[in-house]
Amino acid sequence: MTQRVFLIGFMGSGKSTIGKYVARDMGWNFIDMDHLFEKEQGCTISQFFAEKGEAAFRQEETKLLSRLAKENMVIVSTGGGTPCSDENIRIMRESGEVIYINVEPEILCKRLSTAKASRPLIANKSDEELLSFIQSKLAERDKYYRQATIIVDGDKLPFSSYRFLIEMADNNE
Ligand code: S3P
Repeated sequence: MTQRVFLIGFMGSGKSTIGKYVARDMGWNFIDMDHLFEKEQGCTISQFFAEKGEAAFRQEETKLLSRLAKENMVIVSTGGGTPCSDENIRIMRESGEVIYINVEPEILCKRLSTAKASRPLIANKSDEELLSFIQSKLAERDKYYRQATIIVDGDKLPFSSYRFLIEMADNNE
């Protein structure tokens, strides 16, 4: 039986909002990787990027993911870049269901334009630069996101459907 579900998708796709809802609905624990990262490192992700750089962040992110892949009855909301390495997507696929919340770039752009500050990859982008950044980053990341075991249309699917999808995937194993 599935013991863990990883929610993946671009920044602003709703992973944490949906994750909290689904965890409550299923009676499982909810883990927000970004929050846990910040708690354990004792600094914000922006500070970590500024002091140690993105490569160091990615290394720590993989270590954290490997630990979470051993937890039971958890819904994990990952960072937007977490699945984007062969190693990380493999860890997730081997240890649970992976749900990609697919959202249109224009919608992501609207949501992120007021939520850039805490996200180092977009903090310094103007609103004009943001949409083209999202489009090119999404194109780059698509091959990882598409390796999810379940792909959902994040703009249209009600939160209440996620439990059903997870249980269906479980029954098909
Ligand atoms: C990142 C997304 C962020 C966070 C970090 C890098 C990315 O998480 O992990 O700023 O590479 O897309 P959210 O998707 O929760 O914003």
